[in-house]
Amino acid sequence: MDPNASELAKRLAEAGQSHLLQFWKELDPEEQSVLTLDLQGMDFQEINGFFEKATETSGSSKREKMDARLEPVPREVLGSVTRDRESLKDWEEAGLRCISQSKVAVLLLAGGQGTRLGVSYPKGMYDVGLPSHKTLFQIQAERIFKLQQLAEQKHKIKCCLPWYIMTSGRTMQSTKDYFSRHSYFGLDKNNIIFFQQGMLPAMDYSGKIILENKGKLSMAPDGNGGLYRALRNQGIMDDMERRGVEFIHVYCVDNILVKVADPSFVGFCVKKGADCGAKVVEKTNPTEAVGVVCKVDGRYQVVEYSEITLATAEKRSADGRLMFNAGNVANHFFSFSFLRDIVQKYEPELQHHVAQKKIPYVGTEGQLIKPDKPNGIKMEKFVFDIFQFAKTFVVYEVLREDEFSPLKNADSQDAKDTPTTARHALMSLHHRWVLNAGGHFIDENGRQVPAIPRDGAAGRFTDDGNRNLKDGTDLPIKCEISPLVSYGGEGLEELVKGREFHATLMIDGNGVHELVKNGV
Ligand code: UD1
Repeated sequence: MDPNASELAKRLAEAGQSHLLQFWKELDPEEQSVLTLDLQGMDFQEINGFFEKATETSGSSKREKMDARLEPVPREVLGSVTRDRESLKDWEEAGLRCISQSKVAVLLLAGGQGTRLGVSYPKGMYDVGLPSHKTLFQIQAERIFKLQQLAEQKHKIKCCLPWYIMTSGRTMQSTKDYFSRHSYFGLDKNNIIFFQQGMLPAMDYSGKIILENKGKLSMAPDGNGGLYRALRNQGIMDDMERRGVEFIHVYCVDNILVKVADPSFVGFCVKKGADCGAKVVEKTNPTEAVGVVCKVDGRYQVVEYSEITLATAEKRSADGRLMFNAGNVANHFFSFSFLRDIVQKYEPELQHHVAQKKIPYVGTEGQLIKPDKPNGIKMEKFVFDIFQFAKTFVVYEVLREDEFSPLKNADSQDAKDTPTTARHALMSLHHRWVLNAGGHFIDENGRQVPAIPRDGAAGRFTDDGNRNLKDGTDLPIKCEISPLVSYGGEGLEELVKGREFHATLMIDGNGVHELVKNGV
């Protein structure tokens, strides 16, 4: 087929995108049919519309305007694991009850490309170098397995905690193959549902779609807020309805400490009658790269660190804390009916955010050009942009050292959020679990290792919210507890109370092992 004479060429011309066929004659028949297929699947008028809407509201003047419209989260919607200790047990029990009734589902956002980490495979398959060498996916799978077991034991009823996993065109097959190769980590494969988010083309500043090579458009996933369109297009809401899901915990793949389907968070949201909730940690440094949950024009929203000025990020309240300190850890709660409304009604109202990028492109002579400064944009929707539609919105504050250590960057001298910081965060949490359960560690000289003070040793944080690991004095005790043994520190007394251990300590389904002592 010659597209110049076809319906497709006409559509491209109408949308001002005819340049996409400029190398047509140089392509072989196979390349031509691949390009034709790609182009036929696209709605250019819609894409042009996205571009216009997204670009008319971006820019630095927007940042200043945004600052004036911000308000912090009011205390009455806030629950906190430290300030509301007396309610924690109630919340946890309520959440566990919902799980036992199979009303809860977890939904993993795993469609990102892991560009900053620099791996070519899905981030969930990353091994941060724990003694067990478990990957992020395996750790999450085992937490789901354990939680299901805890709910069943407590309520003497068989339950199911379905796991919806959103991937993108680039990560779908490798993610599925990985789970299949590992026999779904012991979970029932019928309760793991993979689905795929959409992709959008990168565009130059004048709205022309960028060609990555002569026969291929430069495409990227449409952001983690592509979730809502994908839920509709792939029939996922119907699947949830069939299973009787009432509450959904949505989270990002990269946080090694994530409490998947956290019963306390779910229970807190359910007891408050919330349709939408966000988990946060206290942001302590104005320049930390986390979004903050706040109100904009009276509606809840997450404002990304790049969207406000430094002056606003640095504002402090009377108690000395940052005024905008509700750091988003990308853990959200949605009721099923809220999510269904979003998918059916509000999704088209969500605007794309614009990210300026250096996008490799093919020059007029057909040569590949790698620009050294941004030359175009990618458009993304964000998962939290639906907070504005919530009728009852709540915020749940947890401790960073217990629940948040994301993996964003590769290891290097000054990098934050790396495999090393993630590994250390998990081991230092597990060390604390052993101490709390009455166990101790002894060093190579037979001396008891001092207990970790809350703000010290392995759990200490630098001003930028990262653990201080650079000088080597803060190396955590090597200790890893399988999620199959303990979900959140429970059930360890009978294994460790009154006992002394040498690192490396591993506690898994086969018991308690000291790897170094045994020469392993
Ligand atoms: C995200 C949050 C930020 C929060 C931070 C905490 C968003 C938009 N931003 O930022 O507010 O403070 O985490 O760590 O949520 N993903 C997709 N599809 C995509 C793009 C991303 O599924 O098209 C997934 C990724 O696989 C990942 C998650 O979304 O699981 C977060 O993506 P990432 O780009 O790492 O977000 P951050 O900018 O770090």
